[in-house]
Order: sequence, then structure tokens, then C-alpha cells
Amino acid sequence: MKGGWALAGIGRAMSAQTADQGAGGNRPWMDRVLDADVRAALLEAELTESERLGLLHCRWATGLLPQAPTPEGAIPGAGYTAPITRLGAPGLFETDASLGVTNPGARRAGDSATAFPSGLAMASTWNPDLIARTGGAVAREARERGFNVLLGGGVNLARDPRCGRNFEYLGEDPLLAGVLAGGYVRAAQAQGVICTLKHYVLNDQETGRHVLNAVIDEAALRESDLFAFQIAIEIGDPGAIMTAYNRINGDYACANRHLLEGVLKGDWGYRGFVMSDWGATSGIEAAAAGLDRQSGEELDYRVWFDEPLRLASQAGELEADRAGDMARRILRSMFACGLFDAPGGPEQSRGSEASHAGLAREVAAQGCVLLRNEGAILPLAGEGPILVVGGLADVGVPAGGGSSQVVTGAGHAAQVHVGGEGAMMAMAIEAYHPSSPWRAIRARAGSGRVRFCNGRYLSEAARMAAEAEVVIVFANQWMTEGADAPDLGLPSGQDALIATVAKANPRTVVVLQTGGPVLMPWLGSVAGVMQAWYAGGAGGQAICDLLFGDACPSGRLPMTFPASEQQLPRPHLPGLGRRWASPAGARLDLRAAPGFDVPHDEGSDVGYRWFARTGQTPLFPFGFGLSYARFEHGDLQLQARPGLEAVFSVRNASEVAGTDVPQLYLVRRGDRPMRRLLGWARLDLAPGETRQARLRIDPRLLADFDVAGRCWSVPESEIEIALGSSAAELPLRAVLRMPALRLDP
Ligand code: BGC
Repeated sequence: MKGGWALAGIGRAMSAQTADQGAGGNRPWMDRVLDADVRAALLEAELTESERLGLLHCRWATGLLPQAPTPEGAIPGAGYTAPITRLGAPGLFETDASLGVTNPGARRAGDSATAFPSGLAMASTWNPDLIARTGGAVAREARERGFNVLLGGGVNLARDPRCGRNFEYLGEDPLLAGVLAGGYVRAAQAQGVICTLKHYVLNDQETGRHVLNAVIDEAALRESDLFAFQIAIEIGDPGAIMTAYNRINGDYACANRHLLEGVLKGDWGYRGFVMSDWGATSGIEAAAAGLDRQSGEELDYRVWFDEPLRLASQAGELEADRAGDMARRILRSMFACGLFDAPGGPEQSRGSEASHAGLAREVAAQGCVLLRNEGAILPLAGEGPILVVGGLADVGVPAGGGSSQVVTGAGHAAQVHVGGEGAMMAMAIEAYHPSSPWRAIRARAGSGRVRFCNGRYLSEAARMAAEAEVVIVFANQWMTEGADAPDLGLPSGQDALIATVAKANPRTVVVLQTGGPVLMPWLGSVAGVMQAWYAGGAGGQAICDLLFGDACPSGRLPMTFPASEQQLPRPHLPGLGRRWASPAGARLDLRAAPGFDVPHDEGSDVGYRWFARTGQTPLFPFGFGLSYARFEHGDLQLQARPGLEAVFSVRNASEVAGTDVPQLYLVRRGDRPMRRLLGWARLDLAPGETRQARLRIDPRLLADFDVAGRCWSVPESEIEIALGSSAAELPLRAVLRMPALRLDP
């Protein structure tokens, strides 16, 4: 039976609950009336030393390396910690789950899951409810497969548009990313699993990620990347935080006492557990600095959090009871998230995947961003021939590579060997989900009307383009964990293909399927551009819905599209071109590995804030996105009590129904120009309809972080707030006098 292994897995995971459910009995920690801290303390007190240590490290359970076979009792997936059957504690069955439940190396034969669109597509929806529903759906599929720990989502800010993992993350703004990630985690955990936020913090490039040292000013870090985590933690209350691979201001993320003990557990009072990334635990000093669990131990130089940890405790190198604290934190999250007593269990059906196709399509449709629509070429109308060019659009839509990659029910429609040097690039396969935009377009427009050209020969593409009424070119940029793009150009000569096709037929629409922003040297010669990112398992259909106006584009960019690499804080990507050590299977001693500094001189001015500060004009600004409808904003007012609120009206001034995403920014405080997203609304509006929106503003968004005073601080000042359709288009303004404020860190 398909999934037999998975039901067995659930049986193992859930066996703990049967004997003592509901009441204390001789296992008082099973009493659900008690709070999670009390239950964790009761159980931890019963652990033997080896049971305690057993909780503090986890195996890599994919079975992808000969030296790390899938452990007995595990479900093939990212991680496994054995149950403590004697005491009724379930094992930890861990899966990557940012974009869906993964199946690395297809080790769970025949198992599939819903492939949701990439993180940047999710962020482009600016729709917290929709992304929360996505988190809930992923968690349901995970539970049905027996997993009880989700390793997602990623809330690293996209500081560099060339970063290979931007597609997994939620863009460049701490409020947008934090709100979306928090909602995802919260809804996922409501399904009775732990959901992890990652990667704490500043894993903002993949080049040299195991050894680089991100150098940043403390206040700037608090106001940017840490703030995204803080917001997500406040909303989502994740059971676990995963540290980043890199160093921050000298110390590895996993061994950074200031960030773990000082900020996360200290200032923010975080009560869950901190796990390392896989192959990222530098040594026993990480336990002293606040890391609670070593993950993927086979990938590390040593299994640090077992015998070495015992010896270090014995020798007094760790705080007394530190190992107990680590275990209690893990158990606490297991209790708090319902791992001991979540409803459902072995009897739960595996049927939810089929019911999530509609959700995946909705996220994809809301996550596409219409960037250009000259002469209203879209939505497509007319009767003439349509030519679809390139991008393997005849087979499917691309999926990003690395640990987040999902395999859908029909498997991958195509797998293109990319090749390259290094451990990660050995696994570089450009995979396609079997949701072909070309097939969807043919079904919509009639197969006699639609032709396909693979785009390999420019002369052929030009000839066929000239014969069509409209041309849709699919241009792809495959990105993966473990490698960055060396520049912002589309790879494999696709710029030349687009320019050639547009010259033959100016009625050309480009659909970009990229892992992040790209340059568009042909922009002025094409009529339309749709940014579809990686649109997931229902992506082809969603793209088609938008092209034909069956859905109205409502996505907005969660990242700035630069006009050139020269506009970036680091025009040259640090470390690029050198071969940096990576542990995959190599058991690298991280502490001895040579590294390099990545200065983050832009500080908290990430993305659009950098462009505002330096007065540069990007290719497309953060927040930008067109619609088939047209909206007008008006009546902006600021109200100071109770709490700071902005009120405004939005009118659909067109003949078509559409969704607007009006955005509110801080543009000045006192005499200091600033640019910070303060909030947004997402409003569905019928033709001619007007609605009022009310946004509550978090005062920390108006503040600077005061390092010496360890608080957020707003000076007494006049603030100017602006409303508009992107970070660069802010016509409506309002001012308000703010009293001085000091807020908890
Ligand atoms: C990634 C993590 C992932 C882990 C387990 C690492 O390579 O950085 O995001 O959760 O692998 O698969």
C-alpha cells in the first residue's frame, strides 16, 4: 500500500499517547491540564543521563550518504530522534517543509506532496491569511506522513538578489516577512506539529555559507533581520528556531551567545529550543552559548552533543544543569505543540494532498506579479495564433533546488543536469513540476491556435514569432541552495532569445520564472512582463488563468529589482569565485576552516531602504505590481489614539473586479528621511466599489534600536507617513507629532 511506511511512522510517533492519555497516572507529564513547562520538567526529571543526551542530537535520516544510512525506526526525511518508549515520549520525525513536505532522494518510494509556490511567490501575495492556510496544509500533509517537526519556514531577509535561497524566503522587508512567516508557523502548529523558523540569522548568501562572517552593527541587525524573526516569533510562537550556518560578528550562529542567550532567550523570552542547521555545529562551545540541539550529526565533525557534552558537563565547562535545560526546552516544545497528545494519529487519512491543489493554484495566482502591460496586451484576447516559446513550458514549471524541493504526485516532468563544482552542485538538477503552462494555454485558447517553439535556435524562434499574433516567452533562472547567481542576468542566452523574438513580434509577453530579481535589457521592446517565480505544482494553470484574465493579477514585489549590480550595497558578491569548504559528508572542522568577512554596511537599510537612502532608481521597486483593474487611494488620516492607526479609502476606478494592495510607509521622522513599510491592506474590490481600510502601526517600526539602553526608542518628533502603490510611488502624505517613546527590546 502506498504510504504503508508512513502510517507505521505515525504509529511510532503517536504510541506515547495511548496508555496515559488525559490523566497523570504513573506518568504525571501526560496530564494535559498541566502547562507545557511543568510537564517538561516532570518528564525531564525522570530521564537517565543517556536518555537526556539522546534528545540533544538528531540523526540525518535521508539515507543519502553511505556513512549516514536512515536510522532504524526513522521515516526517511531530514531528521530523526528516537522515542523514549519507557516514558512514553514520542520520537522526532523531521521534514523540510517551507514549500511543501519534501522527500529527499525519493527515499520514501512513491510518496509525493503538494508543491506550493516558492517563498518569494508566497510573499508576493502579501496575503497573511492565504499563507497561513498554506502552513496549515503543509503541516497536515506532514502529519499524515508521520512527521511531527517541520523545518520551515525561512525568514532570512533577502539582502542580496543573487542569493541562491532567496526563492525559499519571504523577501527583503522585516514586517512583510515576519508577518507571513509567523502566520505560517502558527497555522502549521495548530495541526499538532512543531514548526521551525530558520535560519537565525543573516544566512543571506550561499557562497561560503559555512565559513563566512557577516559583520553588522548591532542596532542595524535588531531593526532588520532580527526584527523579522522577532515579529514571526511573536505571531507564530514556533517550537524551534534553527540557527544559520555562518558566523555573525565573529561567532558562529550556533555558538553566538549574544544572539542566542542575550537576544532570543533573554530579551525576547523565547522558551522553545534552538537547533543547529545540518552540519553546522561548530563544537561543544555551542551548547554553552545557547544551542539546545545538534542536528544532522553525521554531517558534523563530531557528534558533539553526546559524549563530549557529558564530559564537558562533568568538567564544569557548562553551566550546572545546562543539559537538563536543553532537554526541557525540547520537551516543552513537544508538549506545547501537542506532540504527546495531538488529535488525529494513525487513523488519520492521507487524503489531504488531493484537496490542496486548489490552494496551491490560488497561492500561485496571487503570487505572480504583473510588471509591464503596454497597450493592455494582457489579458489575452483576440482570435489569432499564439506562440509559446522556451522555458520547457511544454513540460512544466521550474522548482528551486536543495533541501526545500518537493516532488508532486506525478513526479518531476523533467530533470535537467546543471553540473558544476562542489558538494552541492554535484546534486544540481533543474527539476520541473508537471504543470505545463503551454498545455494550460492550449486548453484555454484551443490547441489549433497555440504553437510551441523550444527556443533553441534564434532564427526559428524569430520566424515562428513573426507568424503569431502574440508571443509568450518563458524565461527561467534555476536557483538552488548552496550556490548563488554570479550576476543578475538571465542564464543560457535567454536575453538574446527574448530580444530576437520581440524584434520579430513586439506583441511579446515575457513570463519570468526566476529565483529572484533579474535584469531585463530587453524591457523596452516587449509589451508585457509577468514575474511568476517558481509557481509550484499548479503553477502552469495559475499562469494561464492570469494571462487570459480568468484571475486578475494582484501580486506585489517583495523585493526590489535593481537596474544593475552596481546599485547593490555589495556590487561584487563577497567570496565569489573561490572554493569554500562545505561539510556535506566531509566532516569539516568548522572552527579551523578559513573564512572571510561580509561587511553589511547597508545596516538595516535592506532593499528598498537602501535605494531610498542612496537615491537610486531601481528597475522595479519593492511593492510594485500592476492589475487589470485601476485603483485610487484617498482620505489618508493618522490617528494617535488608541494606538497609532492610519485610515484611508481605496476605490476601484475601473470596469473590472480586482484586488489592490495599498501600502503605508514611514518617509520622514523629524528631519531625517526614512523609508519603512508600516503596513498594508489587501482589498478585493468590485468595479466602482470604494472601501475604507484601517491599519494599526507597530510603534517599533518608527523607532531606532538603542543598544546602550537595550530598548526601542522613538524621539519626540514629527513623523510623515505616505500611502501608495509601491515603495517608490507614494503620493498621499500625512504628518503627526509623536511623543518620545521607549519600548521593550
Ligand atoms: C538547510 C536547512 C534544512 C536542512 C535539513 C540544510 O542544508 O540549510 O534549511 O532544513 O538542511 O534538510
